[in-house]
Amino acid sequence: MSDLVSLTRQDGVAVVTISNPPVNALSPGVPEGIRSSIAAAVADPSVSAIVVIGGGRTFIAGADIREFGKIVRGERPRLTLLPLLLEIEDCPKPVVMAIHGTAFGGGLEVAMAGHYRVIAPDAQVGQPEVKLGIIPGAAGTQRLPRLAGVAKAVEMCAFGDPVSAREAHQLGIVDAVIEGDLLTGAVAFARSAASKPIPKTRERNEKLQNADPAIFEQARRQAAKIRRGQKATLAAIDAVEAASKLSFDAGCAREAELFNECLHGVQSRALIHVFFAERGVSKIPDVPKETPAFEIRCAAVVGAGTMGGGITMNYANAGIPVIVKEATQEALDRGIGIIRKNYANTVKKGKLSQAAMDQRMALITPQLTYDGFDQADIITEAVFEGMALKKQVFAELDKIAKPGCILASNTSYLDIDEIASVTHRPEFVLGNHYFSPANVMRLLEIVRGRATSKQVLATVMALGKKLNKIAVLAGNSRGFIGNRMVTPYLREAQFLVEEGATVEEVNQAIADFGVSIGPLAMSDLAGLDIGWRVRKEFKHLEKPGVRVPLVADRLCEMGRFGQKTGRGWSIYDENRNQSPDPETAALIKQLAAEAGIEQRKVSREEIVDRCIYALVNEGAHLLGEGVALRAADIDIVYVNGYAFPAWRGGPMFYADTVGLKNVLARVEEFRDKHGEDLWSPAPLLRRLAESGSTFTEYDQQRQAAVGV
Ligand code: 3HC
Ligand code: NAI
Repeated sequence: MSDLVSLTRQDGVAVVTISNPPVNALSPGVPEGIRSSIAAAVADPSVSAIVVIGGGRTFIAGADIREFGKIVRGERPRLTLLPLLLEIEDCPKPVVMAIHGTAFGGGLEVAMAGHYRVIAPDAQVGQPEVKLGIIPGAAGTQRLPRLAGVAKAVEMCAFGDPVSAREAHQLGIVDAVIEGDLLTGAVAFARSAASKPIPKTRERNEKLQNADPAIFEQARRQAAKIRRGQKATLAAIDAVEAASKLSFDAGCAREAELFNECLHGVQSRALIHVFFAERGVSKIPDVPKETPAFEIRCAAVVGAGTMGGGITMNYANAGIPVIVKEATQEALDRGIGIIRKNYANTVKKGKLSQAAMDQRMALITPQLTYDGFDQADIITEAVFEGMALKKQVFAELDKIAKPGCILASNTSYLDIDEIASVTHRPEFVLGNHYFSPANVMRLLEIVRGRATSKQVLATVMALGKKLNKIAVLAGNSRGFIGNRMVTPYLREAQFLVEEGATVEEVNQAIADFGVSIGPLAMSDLAGLDIGWRVRKEFKHLEKPGVRVPLVADRLCEMGRFGQKTGRGWSIYDENRNQSPDPETAALIKQLAAEAGIEQRKVSREEIVDRCIYALVNEGAHLLGEGVALRAADIDIVYVNGYAFPAWRGGPMFYADTVGLKNVLARVEEFRDKHGEDLWSPAPLLRRLAESGSTFTEYDQQRQAAVGV
């Protein structure tokens, strides 16, 4: 038939197998292969029924996302798939779709066009298109409500989360769960179906009758809460609503309109960028994927505070035994108590069994000594931030760790090379910078020191995957990628309040832009004392005469550390509800007046531009210096570590969409007003802006040059 789709016969049943690794996406050739295979099966009198199955690890995981970029406005991309689905549905012989792995997006749409669906117990089905900023484009919004009911279809299409095989069965999306070999079960099912009527999903209207309009209103309210600003979510709700009101054909036409609007919008470009960027970050040009990695059988952690506790949980969650050492019994008890409480909460929510919790706790060995550290394959240090202490701990670790043991620091800002300098194994030293809460946040910055070996990098990148993290490589620059950029971002947020914006205006403007937490609220959440400690550590690097924020240190001196003390930029009650703090407002006014800073009305546009372009400009500086490998890596850091909206693609992609010329012009405007020390335009930003290029093109050119 074709390389991508093959036809075989088994017990009078035709078996159509799709083989387009890795995920059987509907790339060009696949729909055509399915069509011709089914046509051949129909023409064959020895065939009484047809099974469609995926080869390899999955059924069809959807349309080929790479193809979307190629579609120019005006083309109707769904034409190839939609008619095929009608043909399958009109096939005179029963077609049974056999699902394993994931039937996602176009994959589920293909499956729903079959007459019957059978599924492996561990498979999932879903319409995750909204996560790419689009909606189902091959009648998914029309067929799914006919099988699953309107309410579930709205939920699946608008929010994109998959359902398990069992739930799919209960909902009526599939007809049977096959416990044993899927193909054998599917062929048996098909043989028994050969004598039955052939149901067409598009004609099954029972579940559409009397759909409650409240379903759609409720979904729109939910979207306003959890998918604020995302157009595809609303479009998906509209499309399913169309299914409940219009004929199948008219519903498909409405879906097509909405699909095309979304596909050609900037949000889908941004989300598709994030999808591929997330999968590209693991590629390091001089560390090819064949680089041998060390095996990590046993881990150790120093410090069981906020970060050490979460890091310890990551290892236990991955089934890796982990020793955790603290300085005092009290700190150890507190740290282990928090770990236990975290697991117990997960058990209470029904997301973890008690037995699994017990197993994970049993993998953790809490202690006050370095006993057993000589067995560890990787040791992660998470003690207080401070170079003197880090050096002391690394000197101790160097003495007791076995040769070949990786020594990682979770430092937020400190120089990895300086830390490595106290060891005799700098090639085994690097940064593993987790984000708080470390057991929840998926981002992990891997900081490469001057001497860090390629094998060590390959090991920790692979380990990151095992720990369910998105590991991004960063160079050894103060604050690495994320915190280096957050410094000017938070600086601008503070300057803006000194210049007259209120704390609430700054937080709200950034939240309206799409960052789920405003900058000053984020500082209150993280703890103002963290930045305070960092500023003290780096005080000697401050340049005389350059403006520095005035308020945060004063708040800290007053013991106001943010949420943890109930006061900071805002006031927090015992449930962490936030309200404006008049004393902070008065303090800001007083300090601004003392410093001679004139207070004025600050526009929302200025708040957004100063905060976001501070990120972009610093991002361009560090990209040009090679601290990040790709602009896309910076985007992944910001989307996963700093609540930057994925639908804007991350700060660098967002800058591309604004146009780098416009961004540069604004940065220059800020430089003219606030000085070269604060707003020196990044040479790379200037170069790309002046040549009419983008960060995306910069990444593409570098990829062409270095291979990844
Ligand atoms: N198109 C093109 N490439 C795809 C793809 C797709 N739909 N899905 C995955 N890939 C690629 C990935 O980019 C990756 O490539 P790489 O190895 O070169 O980096 C490779 O396949 C493996 O993917 P993952 O690393 O994500 O593998 P996992 O096993 O972790 O996850 C998955 C598998 C759950 C299928 C996950 O890849 C996924 O969620 N894919 C997207 C599914 C999706 O969104 N489908 C809807 C597409 S839109 C659509 O169908 C529109 C329709 O309505 C017309
Ligand atoms: P923390 O104060 O919560 O915990 C530090 C722990 O280290 C304390 O429990 C302390 O008793 C212990 N400790 C100190 N010296 C020790 C020693 N010699 N041996 C064993 N334990 C010792 O601090 P936190 O927040 O966990 O920070 C740890 C590191 O992680 C710092 O370098 C920090 O910059 C970094 N980090 C912090 C983040 C955060 O949001 N809190 C985020 C990312 C990194």
